[in-house]
Amino acid sequence: HLTHRRDQFDVKTEQNPLRSQTLSTRKDLYERDFPLYRQPVEVGSFSLDAQRRFFNDRRQMRYYVEPDKNPNFDLKDGYRDRYIRRDENVKEKLDHILRWILANKGTLKSKETTDSRALDYDFVTWRGHLTKLLTTPYETREGWQLAATKFNGTIYISEVETEAARVERENRPERNKEMMYWGYKFEQYTCADNVDSLPDPSGVVNTNEAFCTVVQTRLADHKLLFSGEVDCRDKDPSARPPACYVELKTSPEICTPKQRSNFHRFKLLKWWAQSFLPGVPRIVAGFKDHDGVVVSTETFLVSKVSQLIKNEFNCWKPTVCMNFCSDFLSFVKRIITENDHSLVYLFSWEPYRDVTYSLHRDSHYSFLPRWFIEGMSG
Ligand code: A3P
Ligand code: MG
Ligand code: MG
Repeated sequence: HLTHRRDQFDVKTEQNPLRSQTLSTRKDLYERDFPLYRQPVEVGSFSLDAQRRFFNDRRQMRYYVEPDKNPNFDLKDGYRDRYIRRDENVKEKLDHILRWILANKGTLKSKETTDSRALDYDFVTWRGHLTKLLTTPYETREGWQLAATKFNGTIYISEVETEAARVERENRPERNKEMMYWGYKFEQYTCADNVDSLPDPSGVVNTNEAFCTVVQTRLADHKLLFSGEVDCRDKDPSARPPACYVELKTSPEICTPKQRSNFHRFKLLKWWAQSFLPGVPRIVAGFKDHDGVVVSTETFLVSKVSQLIKNEFNCWKPTVCMNFCSDFLSFVKRIITENDHSLVYLFSWEPYRDVTYSLHRDSHYSFLPRWFIEGMSG
């Protein structure tokens, strides 16, 4: 059902970013003033339980419990016998966010427009998709595909797994599978289910469970609604979302200046992008040895990350990330001319290439379910 493809273009139009059918990802094009990024506001949240069922509430919220000065968290514990892994073959697309929108449409629908069906947002997507956009000018390994559809004036963006990502996932070495568990195990050592309880490392790690925040914000002239999974919150009840949220991460122990430099240049980019977007102010890192034992922790304030990396040679810049994301969203707005829930504009990118797109009508790429289309029309 490929009806149109424009990966070959006129050299003359390529020179004009306002007319081009492709978008460059070269870093130097995005080194300008930091764009407007409004403080993200939490407009709701939802939970996914042990069976991955959706609930329009905060039942999966967990509470951060500060570890000892000298922790000794064995991340390997429970991998064989206390691990329930989410089925990655199930592609959920935007379904949970769409469910949340339907459950909250009464309070969400625009009072300003005459169209009673319209949402007052330009884009609806996952935070993780935006994280990929923020890091694109610096990404050299993994490409992406983003499906976009305009419905009732709002553009919905949902990731499509690339062929390369699928092959890698299906051939993941056993060691990598085990290391994917380690991050969740660290969460279990540092999170309690209730404000007055303690972590329970003897329990089961179930990666179906999630708590997700839904935030609204504005990037330049793009009104955004997106959702992202949140690891836990500060126990202090006076801290309000999203400022109370804490992102947990694990990383190999840093022993040499070279390791520190690589941590700043590659890992902090991903960590910063993920947390900056929803306004999560704090990242707690657990540093693990080769044996998967966390031996120290350190808190990183998201607002201080840009200062931390300033002395690195040839380092990433937050402004490049945000300007590229803003320009990509402008590009998507310009390319998407039709308002049609079954029409997908598929944006594709591979490292060292420009972003291109193709059109797909009533294809397997369509991702807005009938229940959503009908629910929003009523
Ligand atoms: P770490 O990143 O601390 O190793 P998140 O921190 O984004 O909430 O993700 C929780 C954990 O899920 C990660 O913990 C990691 O174990 C696993 N994970 C998430 N994304 C992954 C990816 N792209 N590849 C491998 N593991 C991933
Ligand atoms: Mg998480
Ligand atoms: Mg985390």
